[in-house]
Amino acid sequence: MNEFKQAITLGFSGASGAPYGLRLLQVLVELNFQVYVLISSAARVVLDTESNVKLSANEEKASEQLSAMFAAKPNQIKVYGKENWFSPVASGSAAPKQMVVCPCSAGTVSAIATGASDNLLERAADVVIKERGQLILVPRETPFSAIHLENMLKLSRLGVTIMPAAPGFYHNPKSIEDLVNFMVARILDHLGIEHQVSQRWGYQGSLGK
Ligand SMILES: Cc1cc2nc3c(=O)[nH]c(=O)nc-3n(C[C@H](O)[C@H](O)[C@H](O)COP(=O)(O)O)c2cc1C
Repeated sequence: MNEFKQAITLGFSGASGAPYGLRLLQVLVELNFQVYVLISSAARVVLDTESNVKLSANEEKASEQLSAMFAAKPNQIKVYGKENWFSPVASGSAAPKQMVVCPCSAGTVSAIATGASDNLLERAADVVIKERGQLILVPRETPFSAIHLENMLKLSRLGVTIMPAAPGFYHNPKSIEDLVNFMVARILDHLGIEHQVSQRWGYQGSLGK
């Protein structure tokens, strides 16, 4: 019997917002999900720049690094290289039904919208769409151009959830962690995962207090 609840695919692409993806990974691990992690080359640069996480390009070493960072169980976090076409996420017969790309660059939005499938992250997203699973994209760009908006509209009409990294302020955030948690909580809500990351609107009548 699998010791984990289920597998979820988490892609990091090269948009600003590495802390969102890292926090989401941490919570999924704490909640005992298995996480297949896909990281674009640009995301590796962003993870270093924004979160001082220097991830190896070797998938085994990167898996070990992230597992150590979040005290994951053996095999709970599996990083797959960007050309590992034999990984489970590359085929509809084995891919998890849920995938989040967080953060998601405008470039990756475009590649997914056209079905480019030029790296494993793009292919995995293509697989989730064709298998009619749940794909959540967390794009971060400002302002959005008409190109970005058209790509997101196309994907939204296909059933992809477009959830821009745009945390609210109505919960009186006191720290960056509060803002990050806001986004992560909303993503978990959409995945249908019970959590205690952040309070909901109207919860106990006193938000964030
Ligand atoms: C530090 C840093 C921050 C970036 N921030 C963004 C961003 O917020 N949004 C975006 O769409 N691209 C951003 N980029 C540019 C993308 O990384 C770049 O377009 C890259 O080709 C995307 O490739 P990927 O989609 O395969 O990760 C950033 C790049 C760097 C190095």
